[in-house]
Amino acid sequence: MPDAPRVTAWLHCFDTDGCLAEDTLASALRQVGVVTHRLGVATPPRLGIVAFDKATPTVADFVRRLSHNGQDMLLAITTGGEMARGVAWQVLQAGAFDVLAWDRLSDPAAVVAARLQRWQAVDDILDTPLVRHNLVGRGRAWLSTLRQIVEAARFTDASILLTGETGTGKELAARLIHALSPQRSSHDLIVLDCTTLVPDLAGSELFGHERGAFTGAVTARDGAFALAAGSTLFLDEVGELPLALQAQLLRVVQERTYKRVGSNTWHTTDFRLVCATNRDLLAEEAQGRFRRDLYYRVATWTFRLPPLRERTEDILTLARHFLRQFQRLDASPELDEPVQEYLLSRDYPGNIRDLRNLTLRMAHRHVGRGPITIGDIPTDERPTPAPDRDHWRDITFEQSIRRALLSGAGLREIRHAAEDTAIHIAMGEEDGNLQRAARRLGLSDRALQLRRAEQRQKSALDEAV
Ligand SMILES: Nc1ncnc2c1ncn2[C@@H]1O[C@H](COP(=O)(O)OP(=O)(O)OP(=O)(O)O)[C@@H](O)[C@H]1O
Ligand SMILES: [Mg+2]
Repeated sequence: MPDAPRVTAWLHCFDTDGCLAEDTLASALRQVGVVTHRLGVATPPRLGIVAFDKATPTVADFVRRLSHNGQDMLLAITTGGEMARGVAWQVLQAGAFDVLAWDRLSDPAAVVAARLQRWQAVDDILDTPLVRHNLVGRGRAWLSTLRQIVEAARFTDASILLTGETGTGKELAARLIHALSPQRSSHDLIVLDCTTLVPDLAGSELFGHERGAFTGAVTARDGAFALAAGSTLFLDEVGELPLALQAQLLRVVQERTYKRVGSNTWHTTDFRLVCATNRDLLAEEAQGRFRRDLYYRVATWTFRLPPLRERTEDILTLARHFLRQFQRLDASPELDEPVQEYLLSRDYPGNIRDLRNLTLRMAHRHVGRGPITIGDIPTDERPTPAPDRDHWRDITFEQSIRRALLSGAGLREIRHAAEDTAIHIAMGEEDGNLQRAARRLGLSDRALQLRRAEQRQKSALDEAV
C-alpha cells in the first residue's frame, strides 16, 4: 500500500447484471486507500463513485443529480467492457469529472485512487483560508474555473493565460497562482503592466541594461526577467504589448535566456509566466495584432474568468463578503430582501469591481447595527421605474429552455425541472429550513413536503430501474 493519503468517497453501483458487485469494488478500492460508503450517510463526502455496466439516461440523470450538476466530484466507472460511442461524453456532460472503463485498465483500483487523491487535494486547497477568504464565491461556473486554476497552479509549472472582462478577478487569480506555485511562492511576485511600457524604455524594463547602454544609464540595472528568477512573472494586459516587443519576448519566454540592453552576453533566468488580458488574443492574432507564436508560448493553459452575469449565484455572497470587510465585522451582515432583489437584478458592466464599489458606497451610508436596507442604496443607483418582477426571464433563461427543447424535453419535463431546481435552490438558500423555503416558493409547508416526497420517490424509482 503506497503512503498516498487516504480518501473517502461514496460508492453507488447500478445493480444490473454485468456490474461488478458493490462489495467487490469497495474491497478493491479499500486496498489502495479509498474508503467507500454507501450513499445515504448523513453528510456524504464530496467525492463519489458511480459504477454501471451500461450508461442509460437513468445513469446520466443520477450523475447529474448526485454531482449537483458537476459541483461535486464524481468518478464514473463502467464495468461492462466496451463503451458505446459517445457514452463517455454523455456521462461527462452530465457532471462526472472522469469516466473510466474498469476492465480496460491493468490496475484499475490504483487508477481510481490516483484520480480521487488529486481531486481531493485540489478541493482541500479550495477550502484553505487563502482561497476561501480571497476568491469568494462557490457558484458552479466560478467553482469549475477555480478548480482548474488551482490544479494547474499547484501541480504544474506551465505558463497560464487568464482572460476575462474587466473586473472579473484576473489579477487576484494571478496572485493565487503565484501563492500556490511550489517553490516560487517564497519569492515576490513580479508584476509588469504592459500598458505602462514606454517604447523607448521597454527593453530596459524587461531585459535590464548595462551601464552606459544609453544616455542616462549611469548604472547597470536588472529588468523584469532577471527580477522574476525563481519566482512568477505576471504580465498584466499582455494584449497591449506592441508587435515589436512581442518579437523580442519570444526567446526569453521560450528558452528563458535574454541579453541586457547594451550587452552581448546571454543570461538565463527561470520564472513561471502568468499573463492576463481582457482582449480575445486569438481574434487579435487573426487581425495581425498579436503574434501567434507568442500566443502559444504564453498560453499553455488558458482560463477564462466568468463575468458576474454568468455567476449570479455568487452576487449575494460577494456582496456580504465586501460588506463584512468594509465594516470590519466577524459575521456577514443581513441584507433586507429588497436589497437582495436589487443586487440580483442590477447589471454589472465592471463585474466584481463594480459590485465591490456599490457595496462600499452602501457601507458608507449604512449606520447602526441592523441589516442593510433599501435606503442604504445610493440615490443615483436606485432604479427609476418600479423593478420589473420578470427581470429573471432574460436571455439566459431563454437559452436554457431552448437547450431543453433541442434535447427533446417536453413542456411537462421542463416544468418539472424548473420546479425541482427552484425547490433545490430555495432549500439551499434557507439552509434546509422547510418553512422558510416554502414561504420563498409561495407554497404551504405541507405542499412543499409533498413535493419533496414525490421527488425522493421518483429518485428511488429511477435508481431501481
Ligand atoms: N472572487 C473574488 N472574491 C473577492 N473579490 C474579488 C473576486 N474577484 C475579484 N475581486 C475583487 O474585484 C476587484 C477586481 O479584481 P481584479 O483587479 O483581479 O480584476 P481584473 O480582472 O484584473 O480587472 P481588470 O481587467 O480591470 O484589470 C478587486 O478589488 C478584487 O479584489
Ligand atoms: Mg487587472
